[in-house]
Amino acid sequence: MTASYPNLRLRRTRSSGWSRALHRETTLTPADLIWPLFVTEGHGVDQPIASLPGVSRWSVDGIAARAREAAALGIPCIALFPNTQADRRSDDGAEALNPDNLMCRAIKAVRDACGNDIGILTDVALDPYTSHGQDGLTDDAGYVRNDDTVAVLVDQAINQADAGADIIAPSDMMDGRVRAIRMALEMGGHHNVQIMSYAAKYASAFYGPFRDAVGSGGLLKGDKKSYQMDPANTDEALREVALDIAEGADSVMVKPGLPYLDIVARVKDRFDVPVFAYQVSGEYAMIEAAAAAGAGERDALVMETLMAFKRAGCTGVLTYHAAHAARLMNG
Ligand code: PBG
Repeated sequence: MTASYPNLRLRRTRSSGWSRALHRETTLTPADLIWPLFVTEGHGVDQPIASLPGVSRWSVDGIAARAREAAALGIPCIALFPNTQADRRSDDGAEALNPDNLMCRAIKAVRDACGNDIGILTDVALDPYTSHGQDGLTDDAGYVRNDDTVAVLVDQAINQADAGADIIAPSDMMDGRVRAIRMALEMGGHHNVQIMSYAAKYASAFYGPFRDAVGSGGLLKGDKKSYQMDPANTDEALREVALDIAEGADSVMVKPGLPYLDIVARVKDRFDVPVFAYQVSGEYAMIEAAAAAGAGERDALVMETLMAFKRAGCTGVLTYHAAHAARLMNG
């Protein structure tokens, strides 16, 4: 016989702090976080991003300092995104293949500063390097050509791995890119370089501030709906994840985060792989705006949303709040 009121009082275990701690089902630690950072040219540069209050673009020296800060806070991994100079952007995004580009210099600086104390995740897609803001090579009608783009993404991934990246994260949503990148990494001797695929990445309205941050927003022609997923779809996300696992992804990502926790839960239920979520720029901005408007207490909003990712089944979360949240957790 199952217990019922008054023998069963669910408030009993909630009645004091120690008891709530004892019965807590989900834990969140700094080790669950990946901190995305924006890199820009120069030295000593700390350039605030208006649409992401509290987030800056840092020059390579500043990135190395942030990486040291992350390691000291117990954050195991950072993610790097370059704001490429306008005169280095082109139709074919060739700067992505330059071994001395901003991304590669940042990877090396972080490695020099932190050794193996922190993981370096790098985004594979051409949008920070193209003059049209699309993630790949376009035809005359602006359609992103799949197979030609994959060939370039492979070279971009190898360029990043050669510079010292630990996790290659293709965010482009081309078909077949995980297999092609995995094969090239194996051939290139990068056996232990991981692939975290942006497996279920939606064509979302929440990416606006990111596009400001990398400088692709104003350039973008059209939208990304021919490769990023329709927000209405779930089955398709599961197929994307299955495909990327079969192609050799070590972990998969769902993106955006909070509005897509149902997808995280479905993926976690179906597959035995590490699942990450990206709490994207628009989500960060929304929390900051809510706090600034007095609609909620900032730290509480941050910690509650991060816990929600863990509860839904995430192994970890990419979040611009990473350092702040880790500081809160470390007391
Ligand atoms: C690039 C990329 C995007 C994000 C991560 N990698 C933007 C896009 O697809 O347009 C978004 C991250 C964020 O909004 O925080 N392919």
